[in-house]
Amino acid sequence: MLALVADPSRPHLLFVDDEESLRRPTAERLAEKGFEVVEAGSGEQALELLDQFAFDILVTDLRLPGMDGTQVIDAARQRYPAIVAIVITGYGTVRDAVEAIKKGAWDFITKPFHFDELMHVIQTSLERGRLRSENAYLRSQLEERYQFEGIIGRSRAMQPLFTMLETVARTASTVLVTGETGTGKEVIAKAIHHNSPRKTHRFVAMNCGAIPETLLEAELFGHEKGAFTGAIAMRQGKFEHANKGTLFLDEIGTMSLSVQTKLLRALAERSFERVGGNQTIKVDVRVIAATNAPLKEMIKDGTFREDLFYRLNVFPLTLPPLRERREDIPLLTKHFLIKFVPDGPPQISQGAMRALMAYDWPGNVRQLENAIERATTMRGSRPEIDVGDLPPEVQEAPPDTATPYVDLPDDGLDLNDYLASIERDLIRRALERTTGNRNKASEVLRIKRTTLVEKMKRLGLE
Ligand SMILES: Nc1ncnc2c1ncn2[C@@H]1O[C@H](COP(=O)(O)OP(=O)(O)OP(=O)(O)O)[C@@H](O)[C@H]1O
Ligand SMILES: [Mg+2]
Repeated sequence: MLALVADPSRPHLLFVDDEESLRRPTAERLAEKGFEVVEAGSGEQALELLDQFAFDILVTDLRLPGMDGTQVIDAARQRYPAIVAIVITGYGTVRDAVEAIKKGAWDFITKPFHFDELMHVIQTSLERGRLRSENAYLRSQLEERYQFEGIIGRSRAMQPLFTMLETVARTASTVLVTGETGTGKEVIAKAIHHNSPRKTHRFVAMNCGAIPETLLEAELFGHEKGAFTGAIAMRQGKFEHANKGTLFLDEIGTMSLSVQTKLLRALAERSFERVGGNQTIKVDVRVIAATNAPLKEMIKDGTFREDLFYRLNVFPLTLPPLRERREDIPLLTKHFLIKFVPDGPPQISQGAMRALMAYDWPGNVRQLENAIERATTMRGSRPEIDVGDLPPEVQEAPPDTATPYVDLPDDGLDLNDYLASIERDLIRRALERTTGNRNKASEVLRIKRTTLVEKMKRLGLE
């Protein structure tokens, strides 16, 4: 059977009609027009074919012996949500066609029809399908705004940052990134480098807080042979190493005043001498500094040089703490779930999501990342992460309300439709629980019986 749909470049069309005298010639003419056509004489046969092959287009008669056309469409759309489905109806049954469209058909044509009419309906539907997928593509492009080099954030606090990142990446300005621990200062620094014209050169990172004061100067600027005990050979410093690239100076607030002075000069003159040397070395380095220390207060205390601060603060970027952009928590959570369980990331229960949203995250994104990693292992083989899988301190955070957590999609949602779908679901479940007894169901939902009946009518439950 599959030999029939051999050419992958042609659109594949499944034609379902029990009337062979109509089906055969129409299928032949469609094939002449460039479609790969497969015929089915019944809904059941159509389903078998749909199981074997992903068709682009489904044209089906509405009235079929056995399962009818809408059921075929339903089944097809479950398998291939983007399938273009067109129904054929008998004369005078337009109302059925309208029903079919409500259930997911794209268009309809009434019998008897002229072949050109059918072609027109198919082509306009295909065009609509193409536009739809183009829109989906555009939307996915937009979504990238929520992500810059793997940095996630759709909150108002993060959006301007992405724009600034792109701008600053193009320049060679010195950047000062400030923010609490774990807010992503280092990821930001790397993103700037990888989007800058310097990306083919090195990104050299140095944690000033992790290097003993006595060695810091030599680490930064290098040293000559014999400059101090143990300097058995000349060694280049980070500045030279990062030439033409980017030097990331982390925890800049821990630097002693004497090293601050030397750094200031290197930034101002773009040159320096190695420790123990007198040859001036010129470099072309973009410096990105980061700190979670309150530099302005340190200036007042006299522990940080004001002139160095202004030299570094040419382009300031401040990362907001996670508790000030809680709307990013679901997005980050999903991102980390995929990161830790790439094939088949687990779901997360509403209770767990509420707890994540309620917690204050003093360790910010890093702490959230660790909590999610832990939860993915705590979960064992359960498909869903639950509150109990979260670290104790997160579990203890009092969730603000008992409202279920609802993700607000990027393109918004129709509030009335959404609320109606919740009502419909709860009413259905109440009726199921009471085996269809409306009196009892209305008690379960604590509404009047008449209100229940009204709602059922309005929600199409009758
Ligand atoms: N917006 C973000 N999107 C995705 N991951 C992020 C984001 N921000 C931070 N992370 C992740 O959180 C962790 C901590 O980030 P990073 O090391 O950049 O923080 P930091 O601000 O430098 O922290 P510290 O001050 O403790 O050095 C990293 O694993 C990083 O990948
Ligand atoms: Mg860091």
